[in-house]
Parts: sequence; C-alpha cells; structure tokens
Amino acid sequence: MPRYPDRVQIVEVGPRDGLQNETLPVPTPVKIEFIRRLVSAGLKQIEVTSFVHPKFVPQLADAVEVIAALPEGDGVCYSSLVPNEKGLDRAIESGVKRVAVFTAASDTFTQKNIRMTVDESLDVFAPVVSRAIDAGLTVRGYVSTCFVCPYEGDVDKTRVGTVTKRLLAMGVDQVAISDTTGAAVPTDIFETVGHLLDGTPAEKLALHLHDTYGTALANVLVGLELGISTFDASAGGLGGCPFAPGASGNLATEDLVYMLDRMGIETGVEVAELVNAADVVAGALGRALPSRNWQRLRGSCGDAAGSV
Ligand code: COA
Ligand code: ZN
Repeated sequence: MPRYPDRVQIVEVGPRDGLQNETLPVPTPVKIEFIRRLVSAGLKQIEVTSFVHPKFVPQLADAVEVIAALPEGDGVCYSSLVPNEKGLDRAIESGVKRVAVFTAASDTFTQKNIRMTVDESLDVFAPVVSRAIDAGLTVRGYVSTCFVCPYEGDVDKTRVGTVTKRLLAMGVDQVAISDTTGAAVPTDIFETVGHLLDGTPAEKLALHLHDTYGTALANVLVGLELGISTFDASAGGLGGCPFAPGASGNLATEDLVYMLDRMGIETGVEVAELVNAADVVAGALGRALPSRNWQRLRGSCGDAAGSV
C-alpha cells in the first residue's frame, strides 16, 4: 500500500468558487447560512468571497456584507481572493485575516481573467503580498490552468514551476495548483506535481481540482501518493470560473470526505453536515447539485428546495 498522509486539510471554496459562476444571484443571508453550516460540518479553512471588480463578478459584489456577518467559528480561518492593490485595500478594511492572490500558468487565460499577463500579475502581486503580510494577514497563492488552458491547450509543467516559485518567494504560505478546466488526469498530476516537488516541500502545495470529466478523485489519489495533504473542494460540487468556458464544478467536498474517511485519513469534517450545508444553496438555486453524496442523500431538486 502506498503511504498516505494521516490527516488532510480541506480548503472549502464553495462560497467563492462555487457561487461566482451562478447566474441566479444568491442572497447574502443565504450565503451566511451556507457558511454557518460549513463551519458546523467541521471545516476550518473557508474561502468566503472575492474583492474583485463587482462589474466582472456581480455574484460576489456583497463581499463586505458577507465578511461583516461571518459566524464566529472555533479555529476557523476565512479568506478572500484579491486581484490587486485595490482588492487588498477593500480586504484589509473588511477585517478578513487571510487573502489569496491568483494568477495562472497561461497568458491568455490570465488576460481574460484579470486583464494582465502572468508576468504583469506577478509584478502587481509582489507589493500586494508584502503589504498584506505587513498588515498581519496571511496570504495564499493560486496558479490557475496548471494542466490545460481553455484557450492555449496543454500547459508546460516548467511554466507552472516558475510561477509557483515566484509566488512562494513573495511570501505566500501555500500555492494552490489549480485544474481550472477540470481536464487533468492522474498522469498529469503525477508529471506536474512531481516536477514541483523537486525543490518545493509538499506542505507548500495544495491541489485545487474541478470535476468536469469525473477525474478529480483519481487526481486526489495521485496527490496523496505524492504527499500532498491540502485539497480544495466545494460543498455540493458547485463551482466554475466565468472566464474558463466549458469548466464545471469543483471537486465536491462531501465526495472527497467520503473517500478520505473510508481510507482512514482524518479530515474533521462530516459528510451529512456538508450535504446539509449544500441544501441551502440548492434551495436558493432551485436545482439539484452535482455531488454524488448530495444526490445519494437528497435524490431530487424538489427535496432540497423544500428543505431550506
Ligand atoms: N475591486 C473593485 N474595483 C476595482 C478593483 C477591485 N479589486 N480593481 C480595480 N477596480 C476598479 C478601479 O478602481 C477602476 O475604477 P474606475 O474606473 O472607477 O476608476 C476600474 O476598476 C479599472 O481599474 P483597473 O485597475 O484598470 O482594473 P481592470 O479593469 O483592468 O480589471 C480586475 C482588473 C482584476 C479588477 C478585473 O479584471 C476583475 O475583477 N476580474 C475578476 C476576476 C475573477 O474574479 N475571476 C474569477 C476567479 S479565478
Ligand atoms: Zn476553481
């Protein structure tokens, strides 16, 4: 048997990645109830919103209100995306304690996403990261399109390595290696993450997977075998990026937790409580959610809509 980590840290991205792509607006009180239930489920790291331009991502225009109403949670760390200095100003003012900067390994996606090339974005982030750290915040970095870019196709692992190293050198404490399109398969993870681990400790890396082709859990397994012990996921399997056409939801948190539980890997998170949290969003959106465990326990959209 391969040696797996004893414990996995899950970064719940449902309130941000999950909701940023929905066409129906989700009211702020629904988001807060969603987050409250995520905390009850045992999650300790929750990305709750983004301080991006509300014109580009109107779904998260209520970032300040969300952060002001966050439930107190024992040992819970809430974070928010910031794309630039203006985003950091808004984040510091909101009182959030952890922020995440985000770039990619391909220029066309980065241009469409944040209107900068990868190099330009790294130049913008360097002062953002140092100012955030000086203000007492901690900072995570994302590298999107690490495997396949929706515009440029296959991505070179050495490019992922260069961007990851530059983010770590700025002072981010962790880089989320992101399969934005959900196209990666186990051999991609083995190749690219294996390359990154040559020089970067596993604890500095997280895997952020989408499940477009149903390969996310297989990819997690390869990540575990390589020693990765932080995985991003989204309750209900919500999610997607408005700037990555064809990409679907994140790996569902409850499906990840089910697998890890059964493998004897501790997460501190309860599947049934996660499904209970996802119900809030299913009710607001009026539709069934893609996660296997949500469907196993709820079956139809009507049940969820009635439960909220
Ligand atoms: N929050 C709110 N407003 C912002 C902002 C931020 N983080 N950054 C810039 N702005 C405002 C500026 O104040 C300026 O306003 P003005 O016209 O009233 O003076 C305007 O936006 C243009 O500023 P500029 O720096 O030129 O930004 P831009 O138009 O190049 O947009 C981003 C850059 C990053 C702000 C924008 O592309 C964005 O928000 N993208 C969303 C990315 C995302 O969330 N993707 C999904 C997650 S992966
Ligand atoms: Zn994502």
